[in-house]
Amino acid sequence: MEKKKYYITTPIYYPSGSFHVGTCYCTLMADTIARYKRLRGYDVFFMTGTDEHGQKIQEKAEIAGKTPKEYVDDIVADAKELWKDLGINYDKYMRTTDEDHKAAVQKIFEILYKKGDIYLGSYEGLYCTPCESFWTETQAKDGKCPDCGRDVKLVKEESYFFRLSKYQDRLLKYYEEHPEFLEPLNRKNEMIKNFFEKGLEDLCVSRTTIDWGIQVPFDKKHVVYVWLDALTNYITGLGYLGVDDTKFKKYWPADLHLVGKEIFRFHSIIWPAILMALDLPLPKKIFGHGWLVVDGQKISKSFGNYKDPRIYIKATSVDTLRYYLLREVTFGQDGNFSEDLFIEKSNSDLSNDLGNLVSRVTAMVQKYNDGVIKAKNSDFVEEYDEDLINLASNLLDKVEVKMDHLKINEAISEVWEVISKANKYIDLSMPWILAKQEKFERLNNVLYNLVETIRIITVSLQAFMIEIPSKIFEQIGVQKEYQTWDSGKVFGLLKVGTVVVKGENLFPRIENGKELFKVEEGNEKVEEVEEYITIDDLDKVKLKVGQIKNVQKVEKADKLYKLTVDLGNETRTIVSGLVKYYKEEELIGKQVVVVANLKPAKLRGIESQGMLLAAGDEDVVKLLVLDNNVGDLENGSNIH
Ligand code: ME8
Ligand code: MG
Repeated sequence: MEKKKYYITTPIYYPSGSFHVGTCYCTLMADTIARYKRLRGYDVFFMTGTDEHGQKIQEKAEIAGKTPKEYVDDIVADAKELWKDLGINYDKYMRTTDEDHKAAVQKIFEILYKKGDIYLGSYEGLYCTPCESFWTETQAKDGKCPDCGRDVKLVKEESYFFRLSKYQDRLLKYYEEHPEFLEPLNRKNEMIKNFFEKGLEDLCVSRTTIDWGIQVPFDKKHVVYVWLDALTNYITGLGYLGVDDTKFKKYWPADLHLVGKEIFRFHSIIWPAILMALDLPLPKKIFGHGWLVVDGQKISKSFGNYKDPRIYIKATSVDTLRYYLLREVTFGQDGNFSEDLFIEKSNSDLSNDLGNLVSRVTAMVQKYNDGVIKAKNSDFVEEYDEDLINLASNLLDKVEVKMDHLKINEAISEVWEVISKANKYIDLSMPWILAKQEKFERLNNVLYNLVETIRIITVSLQAFMIEIPSKIFEQIGVQKEYQTWDSGKVFGLLKVGTVVVKGENLFPRIENGKELFKVEEGNEKVEEVEEYITIDDLDKVKLKVGQIKNVQKVEKADKLYKLTVDLGNETRTIVSGLVKYYKEEELIGKQVVVVANLKPAKLRGIESQGMLLAAGDEDVVKLLVLDNNVGDLENGSNIH
């Protein structure tokens, strides 16, 4: 029989900084669902990737002194490492800079243009250049930007539009006829209320002021603007309009697009409209999940309120992190990422409940029966045996119901019900008393029931954890054929004669609290002496005092100044992303810190010969400026 297919995606992430637990969250959920479907026998295609074009990336790259491609290549390499560390088992890593994606997007643009669904128009608004924001006349009172108070200017830019408005009624009808299309329901209703009541507007799909993107094939001064490039990844990644479209034919339409709540509307409005325009079937479901927050604040690259997820993996285990995220967040809602709760859950649910169950049971089989599973004897059953056996026999069916409705945290709760029942069963049956009183037939029954229950629990854990299940199977001596999903539905498959070996502690308790997650003082840094640099290393960086003599905006780069900097016996041209933070006249005359021996890099065709030191992040940036009056120290002085 041919396997049923299942195509699942995550959003493609912006490679504009390190990935954090928030980013990991969606990918872990998708990986869990994919694992579950594979266990159920589906032919799964799981795709994740990166959304690599646009102004933000271009500017980040410029600031880092790299080409955009170099910049994204580095982040993608790191992201792939992280996914490996988290055990993310994707089938394809999609990149929008891939040649086949670019070619397919150009074809899509052309098809929609020929069809009349894309047309040339113009984009008009009051624009604040440093803030990169468009404002309406009422917002920009007296011609000033409401955010920064600087002058806004009226800009009119030629641009292509996608006729989104045309699809309004078809979309609404589709939502109505397919109640399972958009979930959760509250997000769907909110989206319809916010966007359909005032009517859909056509969507700008090209820009002439951005370079880093896919060119519009028949009008080269335009590049394709964000969503048309990003959303289409879900089909171009399967080879749509490419040389080989077998995957597209096999896997499209997607069974599930998982997306964060802030991009839910793009996926539920723009994406289906594009697909309708291309006469393609729509995905079966789009699910908008919530955010991971720390103290109520979304974990995010720009807030800086996160740590590298690998810190948690190193301090505990990949399965501990997976468990916390899967269990503690109600899928669909925001969830708190708390280190205190992380530790509490790890100790109570993993070390105490699951870890102890396995270690107690394996130890008892070794101690009382030399590690061998003995036959059951029906003359020595108790009523409460049935409770355990029933609960364990039904576990996988219950998990299926929850998982099929994307209730991941509830699915795990079902597993823990059985775990806690099994622990209670030990207390009720008291094997140590049975051994002492030499009631061996009863003891054999009890041990059989416990090990068989652990087998079934472990079958289910394969959807949620990646290292622990095989460790448990090894300890309880279960062969591959009794590790399958369907074998987990039958109680009693465990073979008499199976050899059980007590193994390592699965989840050691966390005793030293949050110290474990400290970044600076962790053992890690002390051991890895490579983290230090020597005075010779420092000496490699030549820092000099420079004075800014001239400031000019770089054309077509909203954030960049071209600075002329006096280094005493020479003058340098340095390109720097300071437009948002300093006015031209604020910079002129300042004595600043220049990295004088940085390899020159071309930015927007200008050779930048060095770098100015500055502190801060996206919101606030301050140049390091000498605090004396100009003239106290000569330009070109060395800084040690
Ligand atoms: O939006 N908790 O990329 P992105 C949970 N490129 N999820 C979080 C999160 C958090 N704290 N922080 C971020 C984009 N995310 C586009 C998508 S798809 C065709 C294009 C999630 O890197 C966020 O909700 O800004 C989103 O779903 C995903 O990370 C990518 O965000
Ligand atoms: Mg975002």
